[in-house]
Amino acid sequence: MTELQSISAIRGRFFDIAGIVDTPSELEEKVRLLEDGLLLLRNGHMEWFGSWEEGKEKIPENCFVREYSEKLIVPGFIDTHLHYPQAEIMGAHGEQLLEWLENYAFPAEKQYKDRKYAEKMADFFIDQLLRNGTTTALVFCTVHSESVEALFTVAEKNKMRLITGKVLMDRNAPDYLLDSPESGYSKSKKLIEKWHKRGRLLYAVTPRFAPTSTPEQLALAGKLRQEFPDTYMQTHLSENRAEIKWVKELFPERENYLDVYHHYGLTGSRCVFAHCIHLEDREWECLRDTASTIAFCPTSNLFLGSGLFDLNRAREKKIQVGMATDVGGGTSLSMLKTLGEAYKIMQLQKQKLSAYEAFYMATLGGAKALSLDHVIGNFSIGKEADFVVLDSAATALQAKRLEKSKNIADLLFSLIILGDDRSVFHTYVDGNLAYERKRDE
Ligand code: GUN
Ligand code: ZN
Repeated sequence: MTELQSISAIRGRFFDIAGIVDTPSELEEKVRLLEDGLLLLRNGHMEWFGSWEEGKEKIPENCFVREYSEKLIVPGFIDTHLHYPQAEIMGAHGEQLLEWLENYAFPAEKQYKDRKYAEKMADFFIDQLLRNGTTTALVFCTVHSESVEALFTVAEKNKMRLITGKVLMDRNAPDYLLDSPESGYSKSKKLIEKWHKRGRLLYAVTPRFAPTSTPEQLALAGKLRQEFPDTYMQTHLSENRAEIKWVKELFPERENYLDVYHHYGLTGSRCVFAHCIHLEDREWECLRDTASTIAFCPTSNLFLGSGLFDLNRAREKKIQVGMATDVGGGTSLSMLKTLGEAYKIMQLQKQKLSAYEAFYMATLGGAKALSLDHVIGNFSIGKEADFVVLDSAATALQAKRLEKSKNIADLLFSLIILGDDRSVFHTYVDGNLAYERKRDE
């Protein structure tokens, strides 16, 4: 391919947040809205970004310019916590966490031992991410290496930036889902050596949560992170009162739930803790002191009746928070819907969430929470070209609402409250069009 052929150009209305902020009050200054903008792409990266007037001279001859009128182009969404084997059990009625795991999640995960089945579902799952505008995700597989191989294979085919890993679980789950400390360690190691940093893929050491791992397994998970310090660690923390009580019974020697993970070397940057609803003061401090990050899962927290995440507390402590769907505890793969539910959780606690902060958390803030803000999260030059073309008039109702929309903040807010996968017109991954909305799907 010649250099000329690998360049493409996108013209339209662009919105992003230009840089990392410490507090939400700094966001206004970092908002970047280009009413008539131009993005030049080369080999999957952003080569130039600015106004059409300024940039149009830079477009090479014969370069195809894709123009989007009446749309809004934003960075690809980043989902910091979800389970691909649970997509098929979303909306299972009537239980809170521990019973829900036993009755729905564990039986569903059994099937992923079968590589063919896993690959079919991985295909389905990645398609669903793209139709929701999600271009990066930190994902749980199952305990089976086959499930990880399947997801990495499909993500690689789609050139996605995806982080995942084999679940570690050696007790308190059905036999068909258990590994052992040694097999969990050696299988994870093999997967790390094969997949971590291959193209855009990254590996996450994945102890499911403290109750399903013995101290021996957690110690070996810590050893993996020592041996491969640039891998990730993902787990669950302080989601449900019965879960917390159980952790205290299983680990009486530890000061609190988070201390279980901390003791085994499972805290720090690139360690992502889902939920964090009922944290004690010392746990908040430990998250801050270790630069660990939180995945906020609004639809899951409401659906499983887990509780209300205290975003203000995380802001005070300057702990990075990413947004997450937590499918299948979560009820939607749409990051727009997830942001809308986050707003309502804030409302119930008399806390604020602006549309700017919501979009920040789903893009650059999420990238920061995953230590990936140097490569994704906004339209800064040199970054990887993952972005979404949104249609804020996807339905008759939204079109009506748009007539009353006064400014960009209001338009963004209407998208998170009324939008869903229908709002996603096109999704680009690594500079290529990866999803196109078709009306009858
Ligand atoms: N805690 C341990 N496993 C899970 C899971 O699969 N979903 C949720 N929401 N919480 C968990
Ligand atoms: Zn989860």
